[in-house]
Amino acid sequence: MKTRASGTPTSRQLFLSRAFVFSWPGLVLLMAGFVFTSPGSISGQQEQPPVAPVSDLSPRAVLNQYCVTCHSDAAKTGGLTLARLDLDHPAADAEIWEKVIKKLRAGLMPPTGARRPDRATLEGLRRTIETSIDRTASSNG
Ligand code: HEC
Repeated sequence: MKTRASGTPTSRQLFLSRAFVFSWPGLVLLMAGFVFTSPGSISGQQEQPPVAPVSDLSPRAVLNQYCVTCHSDAAKTGGLTLARLDLDHPAADAEIWEKVIKKLRAGLMPPTGARRPDRATLEGLRRTIETSIDRTASSNG
């Protein structure tokens, strides 16, 4: 019948609680890693596109699908409606189109969290608007 000195368990408990405290930064790093790696669609990896291929949609269709959901006549999110803007005659709404081009160039629209087409589609939309504006500008002299 041996009785052990009871000094050791206490210091071991202390060690264990310390180990728990020190594991926190590791946990935080783990979570940060998760957050940074999750938007994998940005990388050039061949992944399934989040939506069906849309590159062959007309600019108007792209606007309707990805912009008018928020920028409709009724919702007017951000004080803007794109529902009836005429892409073929952009001069009438040149100021709005300039804003659209800026947002598209900066990649700010559609905003994060909203459904968005692939980059090529958005760039195609921007280019269409730009050339359309250029064309009317030069034909007006
Ligand atoms: C999920 C809703 C949503 C979608 C989808 C969306 N927008 Fe927006 N948009 C907003 C909000 C909210 C604002 C106001 C805040 C801001 O300016 O960032 C805004 C502002 C804007 C502005 C600035 C208006 C101004 O008067 O300054 C433009 C231009 C714009 N959006 C264009 C677009 C285009 C083009 C698309 C599609 C490719 C689009 N938006 C899709 C929500 C949306």
